[in-house]
Amino acid sequence: MALDIRGVSKHFRHKGKNTLALDNVDLHVQPGEFICLLGPSGCGKSTLLNIVAGFMKADSGTILSQGTPVTKPGADRCVLFQQPTLYSWMTTKQNVMFGPKMTGMDKTAASERAAELLDIVGLGAFQNHYPHQLSGGMRHRVAYARALINKPNILLLDEPFAALDAITRVSMQNFLLELWQQERTTILFVTHDVEEACLLADRVCVMSARPGRVHAISTVDIPRPRTQATVESQVFIENRRALRTTLEETLGQQEAVVQ
Ligand SMILES: Nc1ncnc2c1ncn2[C@@H]1O[C@H](COP(=O)(O)OP(=O)(O)OP(=O)(O)O)[C@@H](O)[C@H]1O
Ligand SMILES: [Mg+2]
Repeated sequence: MALDIRGVSKHFRHKGKNTLALDNVDLHVQPGEFICLLGPSGCGKSTLLNIVAGFMKADSGTILSQGTPVTKPGADRCVLFQQPTLYSWMTTKQNVMFGPKMTGMDKTAASERAAELLDIVGLGAFQNHYPHQLSGGMRHRVAYARALINKPNILLLDEPFAALDAITRVSMQNFLLELWQQERTTILFVTHDVEEACLLADRVCVMSARPGRVHAISTVDIPRPRTQATVESQVFIENRRALRTTLEETLGQQEAVVQ
């Protein structure tokens, strides 16, 4: 199993009040799966992702990444942020080769893999450009190439396209679909957009409003490869409707603020 989340709970204490953010969350992710975490604002999606990343500790429960307990951040779990963090003084290719350089990977092999990944992300002709010479979308794509060269067990994405304009967002969704189709990296992707979850995911973990619990795990039954044209199809519309209904079941639930 790529990722095994067992009985994870987490509360926060703020101004004398305890907020239960996650309550006994279980999720089992198979290698190569694309899983979306979907739920209303404040249901604990980012908290769960941060715990999986090792940035935050759970109160109880365990997380196994390829069978190994998560206690801190690690190269097996790569987090991609909303703003790509590239080194401004390095070229595109040097940025991609930074990880392998640090881990002592064979230089020729790293260079070949970096070139291959840059081709896959459509930046073969931009290997010697610096980040400031790239568009926002291109910088994102470099960040994916830089992540994938380290062969992470899982990519963790927290609403990665939320800050983008509508056109770039669609293009990044297409890009991610194509990239995943080729590389089959396991992905845990947070969104509160039903349509995005339906387009991208194999399964959607629908979380209930605070405290975050797994309300349902819905399989998205839409053939792949998927493209933006998929969004127009009858099967997509049916899946989206079903997912929306599942999400609506979770809304209006009582907030749990424990004194
Ligand atoms: N560092 C913190 N200190 C106190 N409370 C926190 C902290 N981080 C998160 N919380 C609380 O935990 C709950 C879950 O927050 P979280 O950010 O995980 O939600 P989310 O599902 O990612 O929401 P959104 O969709 O708005 O990003 C919220 O009630 C939030 O106020
Ligand atoms: Mg969040």
